[in-house]
This record gives sequence, structure tokens and C-alpha cells, in this order.
Amino acid sequence: MAFKIGLLGLGTVGTGTAEILLNPEGRHPLVKDITIAQVGVKSLEKQRYLALPTEILTTDLEAIVTNPDIDIVVELIGGLEPARSLILKAITHGKHVVTANKAVIARFGPEIYAAANEAKVYVLLEAAVGGGIPIVEPLKQSLGANRFENIIGIVNGTTNYILTQMTQNGVDFADVLKEAQALGYAEADPTADVGGLDAADKISILASLAFGGKINREDVYCEGITNITSSDISYAEKLGFVIKLLAIAHKVPKSDPEILQLRVHPTFVPKSHPLANINGVNNAILVEGHPLGQVMFYGPGAGAGPTASAVVADIMNIVGVLHSNKDGKTLDPLLSSSPQNYCQISSIDDVYTRFYTRFLCADVPGVIGHLGTVFGDHEVSLESVVQIGFQGDFAEIVVVTHQVREGNFRKAIDEIRSLNAIKNIPSIIRVL
Ligand code: HSE
Repeated sequence: MAFKIGLLGLGTVGTGTAEILLNPEGRHPLVKDITIAQVGVKSLEKQRYLALPTEILTTDLEAIVTNPDIDIVVELIGGLEPARSLILKAITHGKHVVTANKAVIARFGPEIYAAANEAKVYVLLEAAVGGGIPIVEPLKQSLGANRFENIIGIVNGTTNYILTQMTQNGVDFADVLKEAQALGYAEADPTADVGGLDAADKISILASLAFGGKINREDVYCEGITNITSSDISYAEKLGFVIKLLAIAHKVPKSDPEILQLRVHPTFVPKSHPLANINGVNNAILVEGHPLGQVMFYGPGAGAGPTASAVVADIMNIVGVLHSNKDGKTLDPLLSSSPQNYCQISSIDDVYTRFYTRFLCADVPGVIGHLGTVFGDHEVSLESVVQIGFQGDFAEIVVVTHQVREGNFRKAIDEIRSLNAIKNIPSIIRVL
């Protein structure tokens, strides 16, 4: 039995997906049951090197999502609109949907899932998080017996590539970013990557799956990597850490009703931690739950082939279910999603974490004493204080705190900013 797909987008991932589907030999037998019926593109003029009949290419994407011959719409155009509207239209026309669009799912997942459940179709999104790494379906299926406690991930390949290059080769941020774009890792507009927004979309999706509720995307605290300097990279190295952009979903222990902490920020990760050795465009997601303990998913988090591998796996999942349940009257509960209530997300002020902070200050007596007093007044306990070097005329003091309540730390920092001897606080980075 053949199933027809309509592919929206023939960019990096769309091309990778078509390449797999056009070459089914040696893959799972279900791949042979999938036919590319139509492909929606921006321009018909562009030269392409795929063995696709030209007559199946169209610039009319609406015609694909409403085409009665198509069983599964594969949305790979990215961005919020028209992607969201096309997905919803495909659903109301009875199509199953496979998408890699983390931005749409993180913001409009509840609306899309509700429409899909109503229309009795599947919306699968393995490629939206972790590129080629299977993480969405494992959270829904293989790990479904667990009560989840923590998800800590490096979920953005571009920023991990940039931080790795900065760490290993001392390369500047701007130069590595250009290279990442040329390699097809970064989005055309890299703001979402380097600003941490892409990782925040992904952790919202993972948290929603793991904790079984809707997530208000605006509740995810988010900092990107644009302010990370070579000084911070070098201090991290000296102190026994590497800097990684982490996306964290943490269930506050014993909270009832359940409270989650959701955050994305650059983090000092101890060199001995499993996430410290995830380099280049690779992603890794550490999942902690009961009774599982810890499991880490690791692999290529971006790029044409890996992401297309996840897209095709989703198409196969749907095709597999359709083979056994062609009437489609009931949805497989392991494949479909239907979160009901919103998760309660805590304020960033209530997070307990360690901090690395770099101060530039006048090299006068008493500065370190003043810093210690202000921190102490706000119950911020210090683990180490070092003064190693100078930046121009100013002494550079680096402080690492013990685990402290973030709200207290922020109040201390506000007060420290007003001290005469403090010229600048160039970096504040959380420590895992
Ligand atoms: N720009 C994304 C990344 C692609 O760098 O991880 C995969 O979502």
C-alpha cells in the first residue's frame, strides 16, 4: 500500500528528506511505501539536483495541504507563518502532519494538537528537537513509565559549534557564526540560535512531553551566548569548566501542585560532567527520572541528513499505524499528544544555582572586602574569589558563589553595581 506525502519546503532538510525517500534501498521496507506526490517550493526557477519530476513542484502550498490525494503533509518551511496556518489547514483537510518546526510547536502546540485530535490525525515532530537524535518519541513511548525529574540538554547545534570553536581554537564569535551558517547548521537568521530562543522552543516541547502539560513559551527564561567572551572561556578553563548553552527543565522536588523551572542560559559545566564533552554541532539530552535514573541521548543535532532521518522516521511511524488502522477512527495514544492543563513555571528568582561573576574594578584596598560584605548581606555565600589579571587599568576579580537563590544574588549584584570602585560587571554566568 503506498502513502502519498506533500512536502512543504525543499531547503536543507526538505532536500535531505527527499534524498532518503527517493533512495529506499537498504532502509526499512516501509520507506518503499512512501511516495512524494507534491513538493511546495518558493521558486520553480532554482536549479535542483534531485530526481524529482518537475511537474510535482509547485509554489502553491495551499494546494498541497488541501489536495485530497495526499495522506501526510511534511512541513519543513520553518518560521511561524505561513507554517502554522498550513499545518492547521492540512489537519482540517484530514492530513497527518510531520514537522520540524520547533517555533510553531512551542507556541501553538496546544492549538495544533487540539485540532489534530478533533480531526483524528497525527502530528509528529521528532525532527523539531535534537536533529537526528530520537528524543521526542522516547519521551512519549520508551520512557513513558517514568516520573521525570530533570531534562538538561545541549539542544542547539549552532551555539554548541560556536562555543566549541571558541574554546578549542580561540576563534572569535562572529567568525565562527559565519562558518556555522555556511555549514547549514545555523538558521538563515541566526538570532534565534545565538539568542537561545531556538533552545527555549525545544525545552518547552520536551518539558511538555515529559511533564504532560501545556507550556506557556513566554515562561521560559532565556539568555543566549552573544556576550560570551574569550576571557570567560579562558577563566572557565582555569577553574575546571567549559561553557555550554544549556536548556534545563527541572521539577521542583515535592512541589504540589507541580512546579517546573524552565531556563536556557550559558552555563559553566564541570569538565567531568557528561555534557562537558559534547562538542561541535552535536546535541545531547540528559533525562533523569524515576525509576530510570539517568540516560543521555547524544548525536548530530542539526544538518540535512540527521534532521531528515528524524523526519522520515516520523513519516514511517504514521505509515506503520495507517497500515494496521486504515480507517483512522481511533488514534494510537502513544503517538498522539493531548496535554490538557498548563504547567506552573517558577520565577527565575526562585532558582537555586551557583554563579560565576567577573568584575572590573579599581585596584584599591578594600574592594574584595566590600564585595564579600554585600554578598553576605544577601545570604550569598562565596566559594572562591580570585584576582588574576588586569584589563587595561582595571583589576579583574572573578567570584564563584555556592548554590544561592537567584533573587538574592540579583539583589546583591544591583547593590554592588553602585559601589564606586566597581567599573563594570562584564559577565554573570550560572554554574552547573
Ligand atoms: N539551528 C538549529 C540548531 C537547527 O543549530 O540546532 C536544528 O534545530
